[in-house]
Amino acid sequence: MGALRSVVAGFGGYLPPRVMTNADLAALVDTTDDWIVERTGIRERHIAGPDQKTSDLALEACRVALSDAGRGPDEIDLIILATATPDLTFPATAARVQAGLGVTQGAAFDIHAVCSGFIFALAAADNALARGQAKRALVVGAETFSRIVDWTDRGTCVLFGDGAGAVVLEAREEEEAEGRGIMSTFIRTDGRHHDLLYVDGGPSQTQSVGHLRMVGNAVFRMAVEHISGAMVEACARAGVALSAVDWFVPHQANQRILDGVARRLSIPSEKVVSTVAWHGNTSAASVPLALATARSDGRIKTGDLVLAEALGGGLTWGAALFRV
Ligand code: UT7
Repeated sequence: MGALRSVVAGFGGYLPPRVMTNADLAALVDTTDDWIVERTGIRERHIAGPDQKTSDLALEACRVALSDAGRGPDEIDLIILATATPDLTFPATAARVQAGLGVTQGAAFDIHAVCSGFIFALAAADNALARGQAKRALVVGAETFSRIVDWTDRGTCVLFGDGAGAVVLEAREEEEAEGRGIMSTFIRTDGRHHDLLYVDGGPSQTQSVGHLRMVGNAVFRMAVEHISGAMVEACARAGVALSAVDWFVPHQANQRILDGVARRLSIPSEKVVSTVAWHGNTSAASVPLALATARSDGRIKTGDLVLAEALGGGLTWGAALFRV
């Protein structure tokens, strides 16, 4: 067997139907549409229905990705799902998705790297496929942050939304991949900054679910610096110039972070996929949702070079470079 490449064969996204606008939020907390748009670029976000769990959103996104790839559940032998809002403490939400799809072979597990989760999951799936441990993976980011935000804290509740995104990743022999596939990944954690962005509950420490807490401006500064570094490192590892990248697909936390990174790295804004205005920050779902959006609207074409990146609680951050 020659070297294997992990090729992205299908994209899928799902947003729950209920939309919450900035005006809706202004009725809940002391905020305005102007403040939210000016400081974040966010105009609206989707909120899961009372009966919709993270696994339900993930299932919808996986079905779209499978159909886009022209594959059935019987052809999937690995599911890696990134989430910080699992259905239950255990089993893994990925196991529920596996059962829901009717996949009966291979492994399914969750990865927890908060907003960077999808990049971490992509790196893990790429490694498994390159080692021949699996042939075809669903890599998923799915979140219901509406369940963990403090709806009385205007500094955080205006930022987040719910959703899910997925890609089908399949192992192909290098010579058959025709230059497509994952070219490099870069993942990093620095646990010294865990108290800048965390949830103040959990099974071991408090026996409760808790609420999201964030020192927004400190995270903002670190985001611009670390995301830029991760993007440069991912390109260097692949021997690719940043200017050769066709599409930059960032974690959608704040339009000002997207703009700050683009300015720092001299990236033209037309190459940056931004969904933050309409999705808000959907944590681990934001990158695969943005990928699915730009793929389905015709921007990302087969053969395009894509650089995805994220930063989240942990702190965690990373980037992944691939040719579609
Ligand atoms: O996805 C994981 C990674 N997360 C991120 O990357 C988020 C990074 N952080 C951010 O995006 C920004 O820091 C925020 C959007 C969270 C906040 O923007 P900021 O420009 O950093 O504002 P700030 O936190 O420094 O607060 C400025 C002012 C404060 O008032 P005072 O103390 O100056 O009187 C806040 O109380 O804005 C006030 N404020 C608000 N005002 C109206 C905070 N939230 C709101 C709000 N509406 N929703």
